Amino acid sequence: MDTKIIKMDEENIDTEAIDEAGRIIRAGGLVAFPTETVYGLGGDALNADSSGKIYAAKGRPSDNPLIVHIAGMEDLAGIVRKIPEEAYLLAERYWPGPLTMIFEKADCVPTATTGGLDTVAVRMPSNKIARALIQSAGGYIAAPSANLSGRPSPTVAKYVIEDLDGRVEMIIDGGEADIGLESTIIDLTGDKPVILRPGYITEEMLEETVGGVDVDRTILEGNSKQAPKAPGMKYRHYAPKGNLTIIEGQADQVVNYINEHAYAFKKEGNKTGVIATDETAGRYQADSIKSVGKREDENQIARQLFRILREFDDEGVQIIYAESFDGKGVGQAIMNRLLKAAGHQVIKL
Ligand code: TXA
Ligand code: MG
Repeated sequence: MDTKIIKMDEENIDTEAIDEAGRIIRAGGLVAFPTETVYGLGGDALNADSSGKIYAAKGRPSDNPLIVHIAGMEDLAGIVRKIPEEAYLLAERYWPGPLTMIFEKADCVPTATTGGLDTVAVRMPSNKIARALIQSAGGYIAAPSANLSGRPSPTVAKYVIEDLDGRVEMIIDGGEADIGLESTIIDLTGDKPVILRPGYITEEMLEETVGGVDVDRTILEGNSKQAPKAPGMKYRHYAPKGNLTIIEGQADQVVNYINEHAYAFKKEGNKTGVIATDETAGRYQADSIKSVGKREDENQIARQLFRILREFDDEGVQIIYAESFDGKGVGQAIMNRLLKAAGHQVIKL
């Protein structure tokens, strides 16, 4: 298949191209598009065949449900059985934005979209290109992150093209994603809201709005025997091609450990890399040293992490060491993604 690639400025929407993209989706085709979190791989959420095509294009197991993207609150009632009070409070505060809520699904949502579940995940993105596309496509776009299954989620179009060129009808390049990590997922179908995937909207922010929330414990634990409630969280994810290990400890110890080990691997002929911070980047010795930003600026770290993982692949780096981050606030999401990328290989000094 020939993939049409279109560049678009969020502040200057090309309505003709959006019309064309909307027609593709309504006809059962696929369009990759920017959102404020990461790029999405979109198809008609109410068409079981489209969802099948999404799984095929991503190479994703079909028991892993998709998120349905809407553009207006009035469209929520069309795909869910009931809207709990918390959902109104959360939507008021955080929609449009990087929050996904799980509801009991209405009959019109095919189980092909929900991975066989009776529930449906719904998000209203804030990116203007995404919103225009959802409207043009008829209101409901199912979209996982626009990467091949297992690879880091794309935050720039370059990596969408690398993974999906020839697999989708169109890719819209809207520049770099603002947030850089996928949405926070909160399940509203039980007695108490439960966070299934941490993100930019933190546990503290959610608690402020709806009182007590629980966190799915499998999110941060490496070897939990329990299956995570968001089926996608059980798969190895975000992985760079190189072997990634997280080193936890005091800054000096971490720098020394990484330098020693990177040197040993380099001597054996490996290309080595370090995920550092602005504070420490100058102290490392390795083939490729990348700072994710200032330690205190978690939003910048979130924005850059996935791109940096991909860059190590571009450079053919085989051994990667990463510093560890504080697991509070947005740091919870950063550590969750980094741990998954590392397959939970952590060395505590
Ligand atoms: O920010 C985002 O959420 C991005 C952009 C494109 O919107 N999308 C995204 O989709 O990250 P994806 O498919 O890569 O991740 C969806 C996650 C998976 O872990 C999946 O298992 C979970 O959401 N999920 C979807 N529907 C669910 C449901 N009904 N119950 C529990 N988990 C669900
Ligand atoms: Mg994904």
